[in-house]
Amino acid sequence: MVDRLTSREEPHLSSAGKATTTTTTVRDDPTMMSAPSTSAASSSQDPGAGSLYTPSSGSTEQRTDEFHFVRGSEYDEDDEFLDLADTVADTTSNGSTSVTPSVHRFEFAYGRRYHGYKCGRYPWPNDHFEQEIEALKHHWMTELTDGQFWLADIGPSPQRIIDIGTGSGIWAIDVADHYQSAHVVGTDLSPIQPQWLPVNFRTFIDDCEREQWPHGSGYDLAHFRDVFPMLRNVEHVLAQVFQNLRIGGYVEFQDVLPHIHCDDGTMCDNDALEQFMQLGIRAMQTLGCRLFGATDIKDVLEAAGFENVQVVSIKVPIGTWAREQKLKSSGLVMKAMLDDVLDGFAAKPFAALGILGDERDQLLTAARASMKDPRPHRYMVTRFCYGQKGTDLMRMDSD
Ligand SMILES: C[S@@+](CC[C@H](N)C(=O)[O-])C[C@H]1O[C@@H](n2cnc3c(N)ncnc32)[C@H](O)[C@@H]1O
Repeated sequence: MVDRLTSREEPHLSSAGKATTTTTTVRDDPTMMSAPSTSAASSSQDPGAGSLYTPSSGSTEQRTDEFHFVRGSEYDEDDEFLDLADTVADTTSNGSTSVTPSVHRFEFAYGRRYHGYKCGRYPWPNDHFEQEIEALKHHWMTELTDGQFWLADIGPSPQRIIDIGTGSGIWAIDVADHYQSAHVVGTDLSPIQPQWLPVNFRTFIDDCEREQWPHGSGYDLAHFRDVFPMLRNVEHVLAQVFQNLRIGGYVEFQDVLPHIHCDDGTMCDNDALEQFMQLGIRAMQTLGCRLFGATDIKDVLEAAGFENVQVVSIKVPIGTWAREQKLKSSGLVMKAMLDDVLDGFAAKPFAALGILGDERDQLLTAARASMKDPRPHRYMVTRFCYGQKGTDLMRMDSD
């Protein structure tokens, strides 16, 4: 465990183009954490209660030294790092409590850093390298959608939004800044959100696949970006979401699919990048992410009871081979992101397939070399899929 406490200034560019500065304190040593507090707001109310998220007047940002750890009546017995002895718990609530320092005890493996809470649940790194790529992806995705945070028609003044698997919270922070009357909740396995947050945004450390849903109800939108493929029990998560959306509310999944495509025959049959990504898909499925790479998500949403399910797919070139300027710059970012994705696959996922050492290095080198070849016109698909709860009930209401 690295024994240090560092602070750094992180410029945060909101999608409105307004640059603000947030200070992120990186605590790699949990023993250096300030004692978690049990503020009234964090511990004595149901986190789903509207008043909990009401911004204090006159202030547009909150500083939080604590993340909220969602805790239901079940204990996290399978979490070897969750030691109740170092949790300052409020026994009057089964909603949330201040985060235990143990969630900061990250796992280090294959030269990368992974989440500590529910250690091993999610096989992708959460280190700063990964967070920087996620930030790049955020701006790239909002460019792709011409600045829209979602494609679902949730109306101009949403009141409650939940971002599940929020990561660094970059999407949710932008949304909270833009919709200041909305209460925005972000949940994740990793406490990697910045310390300075909009007052209408709250973060919770939580596993969205566990039995209970502790985030209240009445949501206009449940948003998942690059989380769906990682889930082990999508059906359970969707059932929880369905139950806690308001009638007429939406779920939306936004995902960059891992398949490499080419429509004009310029990619050879044994393309090293394509082969690498196929292995990556297999590895993730081996690790329990059974819908990783699944192309048909519509059925899954419909089976969960969602109506009016729409799928929008956008092809994004890898590299600068496309003619159109916007696609060229999208393709350049896609290539940079893919480079990181290769590294993530080559760590835990490849190890799960027994691909280690020289074999791993060779596959990585070959895929990276292939990516530098401008001749194949390869692309990936970014997919937006959304569905609505209870349009039938709405119709019955208006009749
Ligand atoms: C690829 S990152 C995307 C982060 C963020 N949605 C974004 O697009 O910037 C996936 C995130 O999902 C989170 N995640 C994966 N499985 C989860 C689970 N079972 N419960 C909560 N969060 C989860 C991971 O910790 C990670 O931060």
